[in-house]
Amino acid sequence: MNLIFSRLPAGKGLLNLYKSLSDHCLLLKVQGNIMSVNNKFKKAVKQIVPQSLINQGRCAIEAAKILPYYVSGSGKAPPPESVTIDITFKCNCRCIMCALYGDHRESWCESSVDKELTTQQWKDVIDQLKYAGINSICFTGGEPMIRKDLLDIIEYAINKNISINILTSGGLLSQEISKKIVEIGVDDISISIDGPKEIHNIIRRTSVFDAAVKGIQYIQNEKKRYNTEKPSISIACTIQKLNENHLHELVAIANSLQVHLSFSPLFYTSHENENRSFKLAGGDDATKDEDQNVLDTHRLVNVEILTNELNLVRKEADRLNQSIYLPLESKEDIESRFYKPDHSILNKCLGPWLGSRIDPYGNVYPCSVNMKCGNVLETDFGEIWNGPRYLKFRKTLKKIKLFPRCAKCCTLTPEKKVWDYIPCVGP
Ligand SMILES: C[S@@+](CC[C@H](N)C(=O)[O-])C[C@H]1O[C@@H](n2cnc3c(N)ncnc32)[C@H](O)[C@@H]1O
Ligand code: SF4
Ligand code: SF4
Repeated sequence: MNLIFSRLPAGKGLLNLYKSLSDHCLLLKVQGNIMSVNNKFKKAVKQIVPQSLINQGRCAIEAAKILPYYVSGSGKAPPPESVTIDITFKCNCRCIMCALYGDHRESWCESSVDKELTTQQWKDVIDQLKYAGINSICFTGGEPMIRKDLLDIIEYAINKNISINILTSGGLLSQEISKKIVEIGVDDISISIDGPKEIHNIIRRTSVFDAAVKGIQYIQNEKKRYNTEKPSISIACTIQKLNENHLHELVAIANSLQVHLSFSPLFYTSHENENRSFKLAGGDDATKDEDQNVLDTHRLVNVEILTNELNLVRKEADRLNQSIYLPLESKEDIESRFYKPDHSILNKCLGPWLGSRIDPYGNVYPCSVNMKCGNVLETDFGEIWNGPRYLKFRKTLKKIKLFPRCAKCCTLTPEKKVWDYIPCVGP
């Protein structure tokens, strides 16, 4: 292993570093003993190269791949990297900041369960996605575990060599489900926990903390039993007013469960920005049921308190040698994120050239903007991906760089800074 690292080029920039790492992976593959060596290698790389650098390298490679399409101005995109499937909008929680069930909603999302795609229809969609070149799917919702056929659908995708990520509140992770998750080889699972027990249960408006922790333990036990590293497990924690001085407590919790911990500041927009984005995108049938107009009382953190708290999180993570992802660095970052609704950390978005979202009813959207580009029950996903609505959407986005609702979107994260340097030339 040392020999391999001594061969890595020094100071050649992110792209070369990443390419070189991939080349060495290939080299190891042909040398045999594929899985174990590759996994050990990846693990060793992770210990030496900071995760943030690996993420930046990955974003740089993605950007390089779509550059010619972006510059051409045709609105076309290469086969997508990944697709997010909201498999149901039903949920057993009622989180205060959620776009479907949050406090800000006049009425909660009316999940039309009878209109959701059936098991067989989802399997057909997976065939379409595979044919379109997709090799990664994130299953989320609503609460994806509510669908009893979730793991059957996922197993079907895994058998087609598609890598799988599940995003869940974890409240429904029984021992039996956890065993199946490990058995079928889910790649990643992210379980949402927003603070210590009392805070988490207040935010979720349901007592799910114990079940989520138990779920993580079940998966860890099954991983040991099957002697496998999959799925990688992380805790996903939102940063908001209610947990602003409890975040460091999660570091010890993640550490005791031996999982990665990822923080994410609240996503939010206003109705005005939502409507302006819809008009600019050229939408004519608003069909999305999400509403991210999160209440000020949940959003407006105390900047001093949160700055100190995030310092505490970093200290605690150092002390425990706990891996974390924390996209807010400074007091200014915090101020901009929570108090400047129109301030964006990036100057443009390439998300709709890379991925897509499908709702429980088969409608395809480029992202959170309310612009339906087609339905997989009527048109093949590959046709929708480079169909007239998608092209128009991407062309408009390139022209205006960001829609008004983009400023606090989850897609714009610091490791994508490389997007800022993509030239806005061409039509
Ligand atoms: C919409 S949920 C769907 C999956 C599942 N129900 C869950 O809660 O994990 C996906 C993720 O978004 C987070 N989330 C919900 N509302 C948010 C908001 N306004 N800003 C940032 N993250 C949010 C949740 O905590 C969760 O980690
Ligand atoms: S568990 Fe997820 S989908 Fe359900 S209310 Fe909470 S954030 Fe929304
Ligand atoms: S930043 Fe805007 S265009 Fe990009 S994914 Fe988010 S909502 Fe869509």
